[in-house]
Amino acid sequence: MDMTNLHQLFNAQTQEIEISGIRLFDEKIASIDGLIKLTLGQPDFPTPQHVKDAGIKAIKNNLSFYTGMAGELRLRESVANFMKVKYNISYDPQSEILSTVGATEALAASLLAILNPGDKVLIPSPFFSLYEPLVILGKAEPVYIDTTENDFILSPEMIQEAMSVHGDKVKAIILNYPTNPTGVTWNREEVIAIADTLKQYPDVFAISDEIYSELVYEGSHISLGEYLFDQTIVINGLSKSHAMTGWRLGFTLAPKAITQQIIKVHQYLVTSASSITQYAGIEALENGMDDALPMREEYKKRRDYIYEIMHRLGFEIAKPNGAFYIFAKIPEGYIQNSYDFCYDLAQKAKVGFIPGVAFGEAGEGFIRLSYASSMAEIEEAMHRLTNYMEQHSVN
Ligand SMILES: Cc1ncc(COP(=O)(O)O)c(C=O)c1O
Repeated sequence: MDMTNLHQLFNAQTQEIEISGIRLFDEKIASIDGLIKLTLGQPDFPTPQHVKDAGIKAIKNNLSFYTGMAGELRLRESVANFMKVKYNISYDPQSEILSTVGATEALAASLLAILNPGDKVLIPSPFFSLYEPLVILGKAEPVYIDTTENDFILSPEMIQEAMSVHGDKVKAIILNYPTNPTGVTWNREEVIAIADTLKQYPDVFAISDEIYSELVYEGSHISLGEYLFDQTIVINGLSKSHAMTGWRLGFTLAPKAITQQIIKVHQYLVTSASSITQYAGIEALENGMDDALPMREEYKKRRDYIYEIMHRLGFEIAKPNGAFYIFAKIPEGYIQNSYDFCYDLAQKAKVGFIPGVAFGEAGEGFIRLSYASSMAEIEEAMHRLTNYMEQHSVN
C-alpha cells in the first residue's frame, strides 16, 4: 500500500468530514494545567441510583444476549407511554419506535435511510456538530439557515425562503430544540407555526432532535410529532434526561412506513442497542419519568448565575430556556475570532469554552459554554473570566 497516496483510497465523503470541532478544541486545551473546562455537553450528575441498580440486576441475571433489532418491547412500550404522558402523542410501540445507540445513532440511521445523492438538507444554524457530517456521509448537501438575526429562533419565513431557493431538492430539515448550542427553544405557537409551514412541503422529512426535551426551564417542551406526525422523525433518548451519556440509549419515533426503513440501517449498523442499557432504560422510564426535575432545578440556578455575570461583562446572550448551554457574543474590544478568543482565554485565564465557529459559520464571533459542571467550578470559572475581561480588552 502506497502510504503517500493513501488518501486516494478512502471514501470521498469520509475525507470531506472532520473530527468534531468541539472534540478537537477540547483536546487541544486539555493539557493546560489547572484548566476549568466548560466545554462538553454532558451532565455532571450520576445516573439515578434505581437506574444503575436495574443495570446491575440485568448483568447479574445474565440478560446479556442480543435483543430484537428494535429493542425490548417493554422498553418501547415505556417510551410510548412517556410520549403519551408527557407530549400527548401516540406511537405504536410495535411498529413506530426504535431503540438506538444514543441519539447519535438514531440520527445517523434516520438520515442514511432517507438520503439520496444530490439531496439537500436544511440545517438551522448555528447547529450541533453532528448534523453536517452525517448529511455529507449520506452524499447529500447541507444548506444552512442562519438564525442569528432572530435570536436563534427559526421562523416560518426562513423555511419558506430556503424552500423557494432550493425547491424540490430538499429532502429534509433537521430541527433541534431546545437547541445545542444556544439553549433557545420554541413555545407551542412557534411549534405549530413550524409544523403548519412544513405541511406545505409534504415530501420533506422533519428530523426533530428533542434530546433536551426534559430540560426546559419555563413552560414545557412541545414535540413536533404532536403537530406534524406524518412527516416527522422524533429523536430522543436518555443521555441528558437521566444523565446516561455513557450508557448510549436513544430512540426514533416515526410512522410505521418510515420506521421500517430506519430499522434496516440500524440493524446493519449496530444490530441492537446494548441489552443491559435497555433494561436500565426500562427502569428509567417506568419508575423515573421525572428524574430530570431535580437536575433541571440545579441547571436553572446555574444558568441564571452565569447569565447575570456574563451579561454584566458585556456578552450579548439570547437567554436560553433549555438544555445547559450559554451561547454568547464576544463583546467588542476583545479578540473577535471565536477560536483565538477561546484559545487565549484557556491559556491566560485557564477557562475552557468552545469557539462558536465549531457550530457553523453563523456561530463565528460567539462562544459556547456548558453549565453541566458543578457550581463550585462555575463560580471559579466566572471569577477567572471576570479577571480576564478586565485585563485583556484589545482597545
Ligand atoms: C442536540 C444533540 N443531539 C444529539 C446528541 C447526542 O446524544 P447521544 O449522547 O444520546 O448520542 C447531543 C449530545 O450532545 C446533542 O447535543
